[in-house]
Amino acid sequence: DWTMANFIDQEVEKIRELVGSNKVLCALSGGVDSSVVAALIHKAIGDQLTCMFVDHGLLRKDEADTVMETFRDGFHMNIIKIDAQDRFLSKLKGVSDPEQKRKIIGNEFIYVFDEEAAKLKDFDYLAQGTLYTDIVESGTETAQTIKSHHNVGGLPEDMQFELIEPLNTLFKDEVRALGLELGVPEEIVWRQPFPGPGLGIRVLGEVTDEKIEIVRESDAILREEIKNAGLDRDIWQYFTVLPDIRSVGVMGDARTYDYTIGIRAVTSIDGMTSDWARIPWEVLEKISTRIVNEVDHINRVVYDITSKPPATIEWE
Ligand code: XMP
Repeated sequence: DWTMANFIDQEVEKIRELVGSNKVLCALSGGVDSSVVAALIHKAIGDQLTCMFVDHGLLRKDEADTVMETFRDGFHMNIIKIDAQDRFLSKLKGVSDPEQKRKIIGNEFIYVFDEEAAKLKDFDYLAQGTLYTDIVESGTETAQTIKSHHNVGGLPEDMQFELIEPLNTLFKDEVRALGLELGVPEEIVWRQPFPGPGLGIRVLGEVTDEKIEIVRESDAILREEIKNAGLDRDIWQYFTVLPDIRSVGVMGDARTYDYTIGIRAVTSIDGMTSDWARIPWEVLEKISTRIVNEVDHINRVVYDITSKPPATIEWE
């Protein structure tokens, strides 16, 4: 009968048989799906797996370090980290249109991955964390037509690799259970969704180093306080955005003219629709106070109280 342990044994056997003495490449983002697929394949073939992790400079605070600590130091996986921050930032310079930003980030990701993959020899297989729902919903998801989605699964089809997609019979909750069974830390298994273009679409308008830093720091405070309040499993997704506006404030005796941070926190089943989360006022107050005190150039915090539809979850 079907148990997670049986599933793992069967998949490990299948992967070993398929791969033989060849090598497998996996694009690791630190998200649930790619992390679990990497852990599963690593269990099957160990050092024959190499993961590639592209840091596009649009990740959340400490995210890149967590990924490296978990998989390189914890799992002892072969993992190549590509530091591509400058490359992405320079491509985004002067661009403020949301769709164009998404396309630039998505395309650049593919270029970087392609270039780095071309340097590797003898890799026949590419592992992807495609889920059952990704296959079923592909093409029917309306969000796809509203915003061009990008994630690490979105790699070019004309690559020289054969695909391995061992999660493609599973639903998200099964992938989480599998991850836990394989020793993937809870922090990753229960991670909230994070878009491929990352903080690049949470800085509204043109992306600059300074603005990414503002959104990254305020987001870290929000996440910390949501966790402290014990709400991190109840709220489906929560993050900050930096709208391209400044407003007048007062700090001490001085007038300020600085940026506003928006807080977005929603409950949802699948991201297709959502409601704004009723976060207790005391928690919001603490978040607001900390962000204004601890993040440079923020003098105002607002809470987004729109559901989806009519608003989308992300602001871009
Ligand atoms: P929206 O903003 O369309 O977002 O209401 C719905 C869900 O999708 C996530 N999202 C993305 N995920 N690549 C992804 O992998 C993307 O380009 C992308 N854009 C939005 C969003 O965070 C929310 O969970």
